[in-house]
Amino acid sequence: MILPDASLGVLGGGQLGRMFTLAAHSMGYRVVVLDPDPHSPAGLIADQHINADYQDRAALQMLGDECAAITTEFENIPAESLEFLEQYCPVRPGADAVRIAQNRINEKTFIRQQGLATAPFAAIYEAADIADAISGLQPPLLLKTASMGYDGKGQQQVSTADEAGAAFIQAGGAPCILEEMVELEREISVVLVRNTSGLTAVYPVGENRHVNGILDTTIVPSGADTAITDAAIDMARQLADAMNYCGVLAVEFFCTRQGELLINEMAPRPHNSGHYTVDACATSQFEQQVRMMCGLMPSDTKLLSAVVMTNLMGDIWNDGDPAWQHVLNEPGAHLHLYGKREARPGRKMGHINCLADDADSALQVTAKIRAALNMKP
Ligand SMILES: Nc1ncnc2c1ncn2[C@@H]1O[C@H](COP(=O)(O)OP(=O)(O)O)[C@@H](O)[C@H]1O
Ligand SMILES: [Mg+2]
Repeated sequence: MILPDASLGVLGGGQLGRMFTLAAHSMGYRVVVLDPDPHSPAGLIADQHINADYQDRAALQMLGDECAAITTEFENIPAESLEFLEQYCPVRPGADAVRIAQNRINEKTFIRQQGLATAPFAAIYEAADIADAISGLQPPLLLKTASMGYDGKGQQQVSTADEAGAAFIQAGGAPCILEEMVELEREISVVLVRNTSGLTAVYPVGENRHVNGILDTTIVPSGADTAITDAAIDMARQLADAMNYCGVLAVEFFCTRQGELLINEMAPRPHNSGHYTVDACATSQFEQQVRMMCGLMPSDTKLLSAVVMTNLMGDIWNDGDPAWQHVLNEPGAHLHLYGKREARPGRKMGHINCLADDADSALQVTAKIRAALNMKP
């Protein structure tokens, strides 16, 4: 067990690292952030910010020497760097889980090996793979880069072999997957926590609405039937057990119009669709991340209030700072800003959690705030 005031390390200093740091601080831990950005949101508030690249062995060694345990806020940390750190202290989740989650080919192959369903897909390592892949798939399709994709980046819609070929070249010829587009009834996600002894706690299932491939809204409780949400929870648990996972794991699902439940992808860390837990649950996903890396028990995941989480994208800074009084004066609305210096369209700048007696009321309050902030309904 690692107890306060030990130093905890986090790879990556974005908003997830920042909310991890806030949780760790309130529990009395010290935090060391490694991030190449001198103005990273987490680096600004950490006890120590090692301003270096994720492959920098001297910097990694410094982190390993300073910290009692290390976690990660995003899956694109080279798995070799995590392996290197494992010589110094516990790294949770470990390199093996991150290696699966950081590459769509590994990830979807692994999911299928567990007997769990994904959208039909094929791996594309070189242009010559496309013809075979296309013949086994039903268009429309998405060509997605195998690694480094997030917020819908690295994805192109294609229908023919020629279009896929052009998209592959545009993606730089890096490994990709070609995947059938499914007809979505809705998207849901499961956030769970699993400790070193395999004890697991699961948060209530959230319903996610995306705009242009980027999460816009999470609604809890979701509108999905309990038969579906129970099945999703079982599938997420099965994945966590199969990886002997330790940490916070998020699993995204597609519920199709045909009634199938497919796994889209997983994230080996707290997730945007779990931000609602900070204000609406007995324990936040970030406190759980601290607990899991410290070898503690999962804490209570109970939902204390219906909630709608809305992401704040840089687009709403077009005419200067948004009129925050419309959020701050709304009972039940909680504003979270990440301290990013520059607002850019498509960049996640913060989020709002609206708590209310039921999801419909929370959606109504959210609609009012969106209108006041000039956001699309
Ligand atoms: N095969 C698909 N069929 C339908 N919609 C999809 C498909 N793949 C992705 N999407 C949409 O794009 C969003 C982002 O895709 P995802 O694969 O999760 O990439 P990212 O890593 O960028 O989150 C999904 O949440 C979904 O809304
Ligand atoms: Mg996704």
